Amino acid sequence: MINIQELLSRRIPGHALEQPFYVSPDVFQLDLEQIFYKEWLYAIPACQLTKTGSYVALRIGAYEIIIVRGRDGEIRAFHNTCRHRGSMICKAREGQVAKLVCPYHQWTYDLDGKLMWASNMGADFDPTSNGLKSVHLRNLSGLLYVCVAQEPPAFEPFARDAAPYLDVHDLSDAKVAYTSTVVEKGNWKLVWENNRECYHCSANHPALCRSFPLDPEIAGVSADGSISARLQGHFDRCAATGAPAQFLIGGDGQFRLARMPLEETAVSFTMDGKTAVSKPLGHVSLPDAGSLLVFHYPSTWNHFLPDHSLTFRVMPIGPTETEVTTTWLVHKDAIEGVDYDLKRLTEVWTATNNEDREVVEANQNGIRSPAYAPGPYAPEWESGVIQFIDWYTTWMEQAVAPHRIAAE
Ligand code: FES
Ligand SMILES: [Fe+2]
Repeated sequence: MINIQELLSRRIPGHALEQPFYVSPDVFQLDLEQIFYKEWLYAIPACQLTKTGSYVALRIGAYEIIIVRGRDGEIRAFHNTCRHRGSMICKAREGQVAKLVCPYHQWTYDLDGKLMWASNMGADFDPTSNGLKSVHLRNLSGLLYVCVAQEPPAFEPFARDAAPYLDVHDLSDAKVAYTSTVVEKGNWKLVWENNRECYHCSANHPALCRSFPLDPEIAGVSADGSISARLQGHFDRCAATGAPAQFLIGGDGQFRLARMPLEETAVSFTMDGKTAVSKPLGHVSLPDAGSLLVFHYPSTWNHFLPDHSLTFRVMPIGPTETEVTTTWLVHKDAIEGVDYDLKRLTEVWTATNNEDREVVEANQNGIRSPAYAPGPYAPEWESGVIQFIDWYTTWMEQAVAPHRIAAE
């Protein structure tokens, strides 16, 4: 038996983690219990649920949840487990229903979770105490976050910081242009490590590199918190036009907000760097404002551009399997084929996601080898990875003090 604290305490700062962190079912279970079951997680954009009764079903580790728009227009989240004998109620990933009807014995719930009908349950049965169990939900400027914990941590500090940056993107006016789901055969932390650096970009992302700068200051964090004069100039230029841009890291490193410049002539993530959507989503008036980069551990990174927005959701499936869902958002009145071409809008990140899947899977396979030993991160180019791993290890050190796990 080894202690996870021992694993954490013998970690060499500035180095990758030891193998068990990336392959062990025990560590994976702790990651779920201590992070994903406790924290606020990004789910979907609110605009994905356009109509009464439209729903999305999500799996968060062992939890199954439903997010549904009610008759009153309110969006609510529930555990997707029937109060009779526990069947999943919504088996499809998304759909539209008039009521939530359990497929097993047809207990029928209203869209607000109340039990409306259950046959032959006897005179003593009390429907009012058998409604669906609710899941905490917050709408942050059009982005829905959920938390399956009984007592969720405070969401407000993040919301307070993030809302001014997000509000200029008018996500309440958005529609989903496209969604893609990629399953990466890699631990969720490898997915994040890969996301938090562009050390790999020049060799792996020919399409993205047309617009995304190869500059460690853009993807990472400077170790001493300094910001170059060039970057500060960009932040100031954006702020002067009403689009908050200043680098902000909060929640003890759990989230970061910054509106970062793109390559010299690029204004969007397209092959030629020009706009992808002629009817913009949001009111960012500076054409070269770049991309508002938002990450919030452990579940989401995002790009908000002057013409469209992209959200990414990270959901762990198993110790070496992670689902990454990308959603492209455009103005709700933008017409495909007129205001945007779907291939042009999606091709850069579709290619980038596939390239990232390949590098993450190769990383996972190499770590599986008994010969693997944690190597050093590049201090400047992988400063974002160092920041993520520091966040993760600090969180786990605080969370798992009494736990013991079996050695691999
Ligand atoms: S389990 Fe849902 S109605 Fe029986
Ligand atoms: Fe990448």
